[in-house]
Amino acid sequence: MKKFLSVHDSPDIQGLVEKALLYKQNPLLDKNLGSGKRIGLLFLNPSMRTRLSTQIAAQNLGMEAIVFNVGQEGWSMEFEDEAIMSGNTVEHVKEAAPVLGNYFDVLGIRTFPSLKHKEEDYAELYINQFVKYSGVPVISLESATLHPLQSLTDLITINENFSEKRKPKILMTWAPHVKALPQCVANSFAQWVNAWGRAHFVIAHPEDYDLDTKFTKGATITTHQDEALKDADFVYVKNWSTYSDYGRIYCNDPKWMLTNKKLEATNHAKVMHCLPVRRNGELSDEVLDSASSLVTPQAANRVWAAQAVLSQILKD
Ligand code: CP
Repeated sequence: MKKFLSVHDSPDIQGLVEKALLYKQNPLLDKNLGSGKRIGLLFLNPSMRTRLSTQIAAQNLGMEAIVFNVGQEGWSMEFEDEAIMSGNTVEHVKEAAPVLGNYFDVLGIRTFPSLKHKEEDYAELYINQFVKYSGVPVISLESATLHPLQSLTDLITINENFSEKRKPKILMTWAPHVKALPQCVANSFAQWVNAWGRAHFVIAHPEDYDLDTKFTKGATITTHQDEALKDADFVYVKNWSTYSDYGRIYCNDPKWMLTNKKLEATNHAKVMHCLPVRRNGELSDEVLDSASSLVTPQAANRVWAAQAVLSQILKD
C-alpha cells in the first residue's frame, strides 16, 4: 500500500478488516514496526475522532505523530498549478509538500470540499497535489469526496456485530440537517460496501439527493425510507447535500429522522453514524441513547482502522 485515498488502494478489504480486529485484541502487536518513523497529520479542517485515533494508532506502532493544523496555524496554501499568487495564498503546495515529505515518512491530510464547484471538488486537487509533490505515502483523513478511514471503520463495526452465515441487509439512509454537508462519508460508505460485496445494500434518500453513481452502482436505491427499513440489520444514518445541483439543501423534512418507531420494521437493526451528529435534527435522542446505537463503539474502532492502514503502509 503506497497511499490510502479510497477503496481502490485496498485490494483485500476483508484482510484489512481482520487485521484491524487483530489490533483491537492486541494493540501493541507491532509496537516496534514504526520505530524511528514519523507521521505528519495535516488538518485544513476541524476533527476530533480522526485526529486522535490516528495519533493513537501511530503510537501503538511505535511511530511519532505530529499534528499540524494547517487551516488555522499554517500559511494559506495554493494548490493550482501555474497560479499567479497575488491573492490571499502565501505558500504553494509545490514547496510545502516536498518540505513536509522531508520531515515525515508518512503524511495524513484532511481537506473538505468547497461545495461550490463540483468538478474541482470531485477532482480532489488538494490531496492529489500532496500525493504528487510530497514523495511520501499519503493517507486521506477525509478528502473532498471520500472518507476511507471512516468507511473501513464502518466495515469493521459491521463485521464484529454480525455473526450470521447470511449476508446482512445494510441500509444507508439520508437524514435532515440544517447545514449543507459534503457527500464524502456517504460516497465512501457506498464505495466500500459495494466493493466489499458481502451485504445486501440499500440507499434511501429524498428525491433529487442521488449520489454520484460511480460510488453507488450495485446498491438498491429508493426514495421510500419506510420500505427500505424493512428487515434491515444495520441502518447507517447520514446527511448529505445535493450532488446534481451541487451543494444545496432541497429537503429538511423531519420525517426522514430515524426514530425507535421506525426501527420496529427492521431486524433489530443496529444504528450507525460517523459523528459528529446533531441530536434531534439528524438523529433522535431516543435512538442515540438506545441499545440499538453503535455510534460510540463505531468511533472507538477508528483506532484499529487507522492502525491497520498505517501498518500496511509501513510494511510496504
Ligand atoms: N467521523 C469523523 O471523521 O470525525 P471527526 O470529524 O471528529 O474526525
